[in-house]
Amino acid sequence: MWSLRMRSSINENGIERHISGAEGIYNLNELEIFLKKFLKRAIEHPIGMPDKIVFTVEKIKEPIQNVKVLPLKTIFCNSPEEAYEVIKENILKIGVSEKALYKAWEVIRNYKMRGATIIDSLSGDRLEPDKERGVRVSRIQMDKNRKIQILRKIKNLTNQPQRVIEALTLASKVASLDDVVAEICVSDNPDYTTGYIASRKLGYLRITNIKKEGESIGGRAFFVKTPLNIEKLIYFLEKTPVIVI
Ligand code: COA
Ligand code: AMP
Repeated sequence: MWSLRMRSSINENGIERHISGAEGIYNLNELEIFLKKFLKRAIEHPIGMPDKIVFTVEKIKEPIQNVKVLPLKTIFCNSPEEAYEVIKENILKIGVSEKALYKAWEVIRNYKMRGATIIDSLSGDRLEPDKERGVRVSRIQMDKNRKIQILRKIKNLTNQPQRVIEALTLASKVASLDDVVAEICVSDNPDYTTGYIASRKLGYLRITNIKKEGESIGGRAFFVKTPLNIEKLIYFLEKTPVIVI
């Protein structure tokens, strides 16, 4: 099997601005189809035309792990304030402290990271070694039949089903770890106002109106139990190939 990854960017005044990314795990016969799909995706992105597109096609050498998909549910909220209350109620009951949630919210609202922050679920301390970069989950794919089932389930709830599939795949990998208590995500896309919280206990809860339309804030936080082996956690999230079944 092969890991195919795409990232596109544009150079703005000497600074490379990330535009989009996509990835999957495929067999050799599927690669050409997905290379074409990812190219189309890179050049048709609503942010604009990139001036650099990087494809990585890498043979997977370590065993691919299967993890179970999280059950998906949507909670309809009318405002970011209501969304925050729903998040708070759910996340506190699974053992994340108010302080830790507050820290995650502060990072998401005020910093533009390239990946996720890792937060001690009790103390609220940030644990990722590089606070600007964060940690980026990678080497992920959803099983084809599972994808069809989820697409059926969400077709009337969103006009961006691919986004839900990708986020659910990522969240299922993250939640599969015993060290992880929960995840929270707010997309940095100004037009996409549905976020989520996810955990083995809660499942994947899509939360509508997590931010106001037009806001470009966004980010991800993983709440973890301590003590933990942070290098091992990061290696799994970034490098271990996983199929979500
Ligand atoms: N935001 C900003 N910069 C990013 C980025 C992102 N989301 N992803 C990659 N980059 C840039 C960074 O400059 C990065 O350097 P850094 O490691 O110092 O931050 C550089 O590209 C190389 O990143 P890397 O992760 O090594 O690239 P890759 O080609 O192996 O994988 C992605 C790129 C985007 C496919 C992968 O990181 C990813 O995010 N996979 C999940 C994709 C997905 O399904 N996304 C939807 C989730 S909702
Ligand atoms: P998105 O849902 O793609 O808008 O991403 C929301 C936020 O999640 C971004 O602002 C990043 O901080 C973070 N992020 C993006 N890609 C990843 C990833 N692969 N793993 C972890 N965090 C990510």
